[in-house]
Amino acid sequence: MKQIRILGNKILKGEIKISGAKNSAVALIPAAILSDEVVIENVPNISDVNALDDILNYLGAEIYKENDKLTINAKKISNKPITEEYSNMLRASYYFMGALLARFKKAEMYFPGGCKIGARPIDIHLMGFEKLGAEIKNDGDKYIIEAKKLIGAEIELPFPSVGATVNILMAASKAEGTTTIKNAAREPEIGNLVDLLINMGAKIEGKDTNTLTITGVSKLTGGVTKVIPDRIEAGTYILAGVMNGDKLKVSNMEPKHLDSLLNILKQMDADIIIEENSVIASKSDNLKAIDVTTAVYPGFPTDLQQPLTSLLIMAHGNSHIKETIYENRFQNVKYLNEMGANIEINGDTITIKGPSKLIGKVVTTSDLRAGAALILAALHAEGETTIKEVKYVLRGYGNIVKKLTNVGAQICLEDV
Ligand code: UD1
Repeated sequence: MKQIRILGNKILKGEIKISGAKNSAVALIPAAILSDEVVIENVPNISDVNALDDILNYLGAEIYKENDKLTINAKKISNKPITEEYSNMLRASYYFMGALLARFKKAEMYFPGGCKIGARPIDIHLMGFEKLGAEIKNDGDKYIIEAKKLIGAEIELPFPSVGATVNILMAASKAEGTTTIKNAAREPEIGNLVDLLINMGAKIEGKDTNTLTITGVSKLTGGVTKVIPDRIEAGTYILAGVMNGDKLKVSNMEPKHLDSLLNILKQMDADIIIEENSVIASKSDNLKAIDVTTAVYPGFPTDLQQPLTSLLIMAHGNSHIKETIYENRFQNVKYLNEMGANIEINGDTITIKGPSKLIGKVVTTSDLRAGAALILAALHAEGETTIKEVKYVLRGYGNIVKKLTNVGAQICLEDV
C-alpha cells in the first residue's frame, strides 16, 4: 500500500508548474486509435495515463514516450475485447467504447472502474450509441456494442455528461451523415478533444458550446495536439497557497478555466493575484465563510468540492457546500473531523463551521479528490499526518511529492 506522510504547517513558497489535464489526456489517448498515428504533448505523469497505455498495448498499438510527449501508432491494432481487469482500472476505460465503435463498428468491454463517488451509470453513453445505429447487448457488467453502420443522428443529452459527450463525439466523427449533440457538456477538456479530432480531419462545429455538430468522415488521418493545463490540479495548489503559501506561484495554467473558484476565493477575501497564465496565492487570515453549489462547467467543479472544504475549515463562520453531481462525495469529511474540523453532513449539503485548528492524524483516502483534500488539510495541520491508500491521488496528481517538496512542504511517499 502506498501512503503519504506530511509534517504540516510549513510555508509554501516558490513555483508549482501545472501539468496537462488528466481529464483531457484520458480522452485524447483513446481517440488516437481513430487514426494511424497521433502525437500528444504535455501528457501528465499519472497512473490513469499508464493504465490507458496498457490497454493500447494490449490492443496492439505502438507507443513511444519521450518526456511528456506520447506518440501512439495504432495502425496494427486489433479489436480485442477489453477485459474486465482493464475496464476496471479507471473510469476513462469507457472511452474505448466510442473509439472502438468508431474504428471497428464494434466494442466489447465491461463497466468502467474509477472512484466510488456515486452510482455513475453509463445510460447516456449507451443511448447515444443506439441513436447512432448501434445495438447493445448487456450481460451483467459486460457490454457488446455493435453497429452494421453508424449513421448520424440528433441526440439530446438528458444531462450534459462529460463522458457521454466525448464518447458520442468519437463515434459520430466516423458516422455517415451529420450528428447533432444537444445539451452537450462544455468542459474545456472536451474542447481539447474537438481540436484534436478537427486536426485529424473531423468536421465539428460548436466547440465550447452546448450544441456540437459533427459531420462524419470515412477516414481520419494523423494528428498532433497538446493537452491543456489541468484546472483541477491548478485549483488544488492555489488552495494550498491560500492555506499555507507565501506568494506561492501556480504557473502554466489557464485562469479563465478556473473563474468559478477564483471568484469564490475573491469573495472570501483570499490573498490571490491573477496573472495571464498563473495565480499567486498567499496564506490568508480572516477568510470569510461562503456558500457554494457544484455545477457543470462553467459552474463550480465537483472535482474541487472536497479540496475547497479543507480551505473552508479556516474561514470564519458557517460555510455550506451543496454537491449536485455525485451522491457520495463527502468521504473526506469523517477524516477532516478527526483532524479537528467541525463539519456536518446533511443530505447533499455540508456545513463547515470555522475556523478550526487541524492536528495531524492517520487518515485514509477513499477517492482521488478526497485524497487531495486530506493532503491540503495535512499541509496546514500541526504535527504529522499519515494518509493511507494514496494510490487514488496518484491517478490524477503527477509528481505531487516532488512538486510540493520543491516549494517547502515536508512530504514523503512510502510503500508499506
Ligand atoms: C467527468 C470527469 C470527472 C468529473 C465529472 C463531472 C473524466 C474522466 N472524469 O466524469 O473528473 O467529476 O466529469 O465534472 O473526465 N451520468 C448518468 N448517466 C450517464 C453519464 C453520467 O446518470 O450515462 C451522471 C453521473 O452519474 C453523474 C453526472 O451524470 O452524476 C455527471 O457525470 P459525467 O459528466 O458523465 O462525469 P464523468 O464523465 O464520469
